[in-house]
Amino acid sequence: MKFGIKTIDEFELDGRTVLIRVDMNQPVDMATGKLKSTARIKACAPTVRELAEKGAKVVVLAHQGSDIEYKNFYTTAPHREVLEGFVGRPVQFIEDVCGPAAIEKIRSLSAGDILLLDNVRFMSEEQTLFEQKLQLSHEEQAKTLVVRKLAPLADLYVCDAFAAAHRDQPTLCGFEQVLPSAMGRLFEKEYVVISELMESPARPCTFVLGGAKISDAFLMMETVLGKGTADRILTGGLVANILLIAAGKEIGQGSYDFIVKSNYGEYIEKAKKIYAEYQDRFVLPVDIAYTEDGKRKEADIGAVPAAVAATDIGKKSAAQYQEIIRSSATVFVNGPMGIFEEEETEFGTKAVWEALGDTPAYTVVGGGDSITATTKYGKTDDISYICTGGGALIRFLTGEELPVVKALRHGATI
Ligand code: 3PG
Repeated sequence: MKFGIKTIDEFELDGRTVLIRVDMNQPVDMATGKLKSTARIKACAPTVRELAEKGAKVVVLAHQGSDIEYKNFYTTAPHREVLEGFVGRPVQFIEDVCGPAAIEKIRSLSAGDILLLDNVRFMSEEQTLFEQKLQLSHEEQAKTLVVRKLAPLADLYVCDAFAAAHRDQPTLCGFEQVLPSAMGRLFEKEYVVISELMESPARPCTFVLGGAKISDAFLMMETVLGKGTADRILTGGLVANILLIAAGKEIGQGSYDFIVKSNYGEYIEKAKKIYAEYQDRFVLPVDIAYTEDGKRKEADIGAVPAAVAATDIGKKSAAQYQEIIRSSATVFVNGPMGIFEEEETEFGTKAVWEALGDTPAYTVVGGGDSITATTKYGKTDDISYICTGGGALIRFLTGEELPVVKALRHGATI
């Protein structure tokens, strides 16, 4: 037992049917059905392998894509082959979640077999819109179709989906109400690494916050500044633009209009308060890049042409950020510095990841875009720890008990 949650060491696995919920959610090329990244599949594969090697009949549940943004919403069929490659054992797939075909298939499994079910979010009860609208309690989630159909077939429920631990959905929080439950190895590892990072980071501790997930970035900023975890926060992306405006810097009407149009105007007021209180801990860009006629242009803050919108930090800022990262003892990164998917606007993100690759600091990277950047710039082996979680990680940092953690603690009592 760790953190009030059981681990798989506490269970007999040979011949037992184990439902394991993982997070294999990856960007998908919808035209070809190919996964654009396999990092999360690689991360959860060791737990799946261990269960199978110990003789369990392993049933893997996973979601793919978001029903809110309706992005990357896809079958988990392409994940089968990738999982098989990382696990090193055959993985079967069935185009069903808890219907008669899935039930028959689960009943037919032998010890050591692995079966991947289809995207659990194909079931309405598992969707985030459903979660947010109905807000079912964990007891109510135990009465959903997926739990009623699959729980009677299983001996144990294992959750290895740390990246989805902030979701309150039946395959994440319902099974723990009716089955003995444990966390998987990845869940345990992420919990330990992130707790240690928050409690006793080596100093100086630098946070690099970028990207466009504004509510997540502000939540994280408030937490790490309030708790004293961050000695400095380097900013990029939309996060930097909002803080620059809050700090009274002139960054171009185009950037301002974009923020207001994206409904992030309210964050300018929030940023003013945070900036006033923690001004000395923020490092804001001294220059930005923008795109004109398909070409990268740069301007110092205060001399940005009115109509343009920032798409990256400038080269002076990138050099300064590199220096700070290289002289830190801990660096935590969430979010890119600009639109790093495009050549003209990737400079800042690339520079930050280069410094992450050669700094002597303990480096932690979290969130989908940051994982993609890590792969793109070939830094996977150079980062000390790559956390699979984005939203879950941020909420975990705030100290709130995540729904899945709460459910697993309940599952430990069964
Ligand atoms: C993620 O990508 O952060 C996790 O897989 C959770 O996905 P969600 O935000 O769509 O619930």
